[in-house]
Amino acid sequence: MKDLIKAINGHLAAEFQASHTYLAMSIWLRKKDLAGFSSYMLAKSNEERGHASRMIAYLVDSDETVELPT
Ligand SMILES: [Fe+2]
Repeated sequence: MKDLIKAINGHLAAEFQASHTYLAMSIWLRKKDLAGFSSYMLAKSNEERGHASRMIAYLVDSDETVELPT
């Protein structure tokens, strides 16, 4: 169980990194006046954050420690 909790906490970083990358792409596309593509990437960013939120909820509901990445 300890390995699973460690792995989930480690995966949180990947989800937030993916969210951040999609957000950066969204901003870049918006600056290029590609609003549709920008909105798509923003939705992907929010989707990745949603994945992280679900894992956080699991950890909290399981009385485990959540280690938010910096
Ligand atoms: Fe994800």
